[in-house]
Amino acid sequence: MRKPIIAGNWKMYKLVAESVATALALRPLVANANHCEVIIAPPFTSLKTVADRLEGSNIKVAGQNCSTELKHGAHTGEIAADMLRDVGCTHVIIGHSERRHLYAETDSMVNHKTQAALAAGLTVILCVGETLAQREAGHAEPVVRGQLEGGLRGLTSNDLARIIVAYEPVWAIGTGHTATPEQAQEMHAFIRRVFAERHNEDAAEVLRILYGGSVKPDNVVGLMEQTDLDGALVGGASLDAETFAQIVHFNL
Ligand code: PGA
Repeated sequence: MRKPIIAGNWKMYKLVAESVATALALRPLVANANHCEVIIAPPFTSLKTVADRLEGSNIKVAGQNCSTELKHGAHTGEIAADMLRDVGCTHVIIGHSERRHLYAETDSMVNHKTQAALAAGLTVILCVGETLAQREAGHAEPVVRGQLEGGLRGLTSNDLARIIVAYEPVWAIGTGHTATPEQAQEMHAFIRRVFAERHNEDAAEVLRILYGGSVKPDNVVGLMEQTDLDGALVGGASLDAETFAQIVHFNL
């Protein structure tokens, strides 16, 4: 039985006061959500304050990125994975398509970040997903396979317990074009097969695979009905506490 995860990615939105207000509004709204794990990923500047204010709640806090380097050093502008741990994060999003496409992150960088995050004791939400051109050219599966294999290179089966995969087709992010539940299911089943081939059936069976890309209260139910869909990574609709809480309560 895979426990669902509903994660909110706030991206580069919200000053500290807005972050705290949203987190505190969300806290009571999801306090009885025992059917799933709830995670929010505020911007770096809000992490510590938000994590402190959520102490004792059922909401976990994630970073949106971390450095490829775990060892502290002269890396201006970077944030090491253990710095995220230090301010109260349990999770980190790695390889989001905005990082891959706007900041030229490669699979090798994603792999180094993943290794650093695991070494710091964080759970990784590894994002994969094809562009529209790649899908139209019939390359969606090889692209996603390459991102998975590249991102997870060198990981042990112990490490896999702290990996969550988020399938986020680039053409569905922030566009209002959600993948249909069937399209999502097809890719999620493929991801689980790749895991079973590369690692083992047991690891594949317990792997949680989230869908991301224009998830809203009105489409989450159809998505969550799919066998291999274990949750959602929500961008725009996570910025408002009530809307996000409705997604968390997809089961009601
Ligand atoms: P969206 O973003 O829900 O606004 O499409 C999802 C994401 O980028 O994680």
